[in-house]
Amino acid sequence: MIISVPKETYPGERRVALVPSSIPPLIKGGHRVLVEAGAGESAGSLDEAYRQAGAEVVADRRQLFESADVVLQVRGLGANAQAGASDLALLREGQVVVAPCDPLGNPQAVGQLAERGVTLFAMEMIPRITRAQSMDVLSSMATISGYKAVLLAADRLPKMFPLMMTAAGTLTPAKVFVIGAGVAGLQAIASARRLGAVVHAYDVRPAVKEQVESLGAKFVEMPLETTDAEGSGGYAKQLGEEFYQKQRELMARTVAASDVVITTAAIPGKPSPRLITADAVRGMAPGSVVVDLAAERGGNCELTKADEQVIEQGVHIFGPTNLPSEVPTHASQMLAKNLTNFLKLITRGHEFYLNLQDDVVRGTLAACRKEVVHPQLRELLGLAPLPVRPEGSPPIDHLAAK
Ligand code: NAI
Repeated sequence: MIISVPKETYPGERRVALVPSSIPPLIKGGHRVLVEAGAGESAGSLDEAYRQAGAEVVADRRQLFESADVVLQVRGLGANAQAGASDLALLREGQVVVAPCDPLGNPQAVGQLAERGVTLFAMEMIPRITRAQSMDVLSSMATISGYKAVLLAADRLPKMFPLMMTAAGTLTPAKVFVIGAGVAGLQAIASARRLGAVVHAYDVRPAVKEQVESLGAKFVEMPLETTDAEGSGGYAKQLGEEFYQKQRELMARTVAASDVVITTAAIPGKPSPRLITADAVRGMAPGSVVVDLAAERGGNCELTKADEQVIEQGVHIFGPTNLPSEVPTHASQMLAKNLTNFLKLITRGHEFYLNLQDDVVRGTLAACRKEVVHPQLRELLGLAPLPVRPEGSPPIDHLAAK
């Protein structure tokens, strides 16, 4: 099987889908790996390192796509709508694309790939089950975002994070408030604690209280009705404007008392809940910092502008949408691990083997045989559900449409 890794084209993207250390096991498994010239450069992986690892470096992008049985990307079409559009013409029927591709945010792109006859695995759709953890790109990238958000805040805050007792007096520790204690939030808590901050956190899923406390942060209790906050897969559900209104009011005091607020509250496929009003921001001391990790879907803070810095009465609000790309070496290393682990699941020897009895394969398969096949994506696109495959059906042949 020929595995191709194109250079990423999304503006500012520095990650790459495979790193040199991920190549030898693929070669040993009987595959050929083609890497576009310069693909790993901004992640610290030079062409020569790929060659030494056994990959072939290809200068011509068209040829790279043409030769591929499977294309691995950091951003598939949906996650790279503009610059990625020209790649659509390079893909052909029967090819497999494995990539994060923002299927819930841009299901139309899944439709375009389906039309082209591409079999698409949308890596964001990996079910949140223990067996799939080693393939979970969202967790890998959220870990990096949480860490980097703290560094961004620490860098911009006109105070230090730790308590310091010096000859020039005692400096009190920075107060950090983390909203949303999922993967990114928990990493933000851990990173802020390591830097010595006093950390408070809140999440609508009460189950995370224990995790927050185990990291040395204080869970902010709020008298909110949250018995049904958890939806499928451990994700939060959308809770309605009345709930958010109450949450905003209750949190405003904690926000005002914080030097740094890091927000990570997300609802998969939905706009981010608005949790911090402009008034709440104005209640913070000048110099305080808000890092809104939900900026891509509109932000948790009313004032957030994606990928911009907004200053409101001396409070700095950041809405970075691609922090993992700022740690490209480790982000690429983690992605490569996730993607190669997933490849093992959909191959047997050097052949594809799509076992739809497997929850992870079925849950991730977005397009196949010229159809959008994922039920959630079909619903988003207004397509009728496909007939259910009977129990015990044989693995499907993704090339059957050829
Ligand atoms: P996410 O990125 O979708 O959301 C981040 C956090 O924001 C979540 O914890 C969510 O509950 C919280 N949130 C949503 N609305 C909120 C509000 N109004 N106020 C405060 N917080 C709010 O979630 P993420 O980080 O991707 O993880 C979600 C769940 O999936 C967690 O339970 C996590 O432990 C679980 N998970 C399981 C994995 C596995 O078993 N393979 C892998 C990764 C995560």
